[in-house]
Amino acid sequence: MQKLIVGNWKMYTTISDALVLAGHLRSSLRDISGAEVVLAPPTVWLPSVVGAWGSKLRNVSFGAQNVWSDDQGAYTGEVSVYMLKNMIKYAIVGHSERRNYAGESDELINEKVRSCLKWQVRPILCVGEDEQVLSNGSISSQYRWEKLVNQMINGLRGVARDRLDEVTIAYEPVWAIGTSNPATPEYAAEVITRLKERLSKEYDASSVQGVRWLYGGSVAASNAAEFLRFSEINGLLVGSASVKSKDFTRIVELSARS
Ligand code: PGA
Repeated sequence: MQKLIVGNWKMYTTISDALVLAGHLRSSLRDISGAEVVLAPPTVWLPSVVGAWGSKLRNVSFGAQNVWSDDQGAYTGEVSVYMLKNMIKYAIVGHSERRNYAGESDELINEKVRSCLKWQVRPILCVGEDEQVLSNGSISSQYRWEKLVNQMINGLRGVARDRLDEVTIAYEPVWAIGTSNPATPEYAAEVITRLKERLSKEYDASSVQGVRWLYGGSVAASNAAEFLRFSEINGLLVGSASVKSKDFTRIVELSARS
């Protein structure tokens, strides 16, 4: 399975920064094969970036950082999957910054996941605990573990097993995001393994095989290779390093080799 590298540009970049960054990435990623890349600029720049990108590169597509679940209506300030669907292949849903700053519930996130699937956009469902959930390889807080599991199970409620291969789950421990202090790859791989086992109980092991699992939280060019070595980790969700074209390109190069 090719690794999937997602660049979440968050609320970084002006329109000119975004176009310059996209231009650099277009040339630096052109010759890299063996990894799949998703670029998620701020929604307001998405049409311009997609327009300037020109013809498609084989392994690169675009994603939204957030979407609304209803197609159209009185939702001031929101942008739906339906409105974006021709520009994007993926949508990040339930990022911890949406959960924490915009108060998004598991139920709303689930509606967003289902709207993505309705419009053939692949959801990247983010889950992550506020404080470490494992200590010495064992669950250290049952409460935190259940909360993490609920983010996953509630987020996927109503998703048919034959759609699971369109779903990506990004495990992003909140304590590791934007801190320069990532989880250890062993920790991330262990949590992903346990989440996968838990999801297999809801569905079945063979359907869950189709789900891709990413790690996110302070991924950098200097540490990406360590995560990519683990077969449990199918790719990376990269935040601040994704707006540095050299660093992001390096991460993609490393993933193409792993
Ligand atoms: P970070 O963010 O790489 O800046 O820690 C990751 C994310 O929030 O998706």
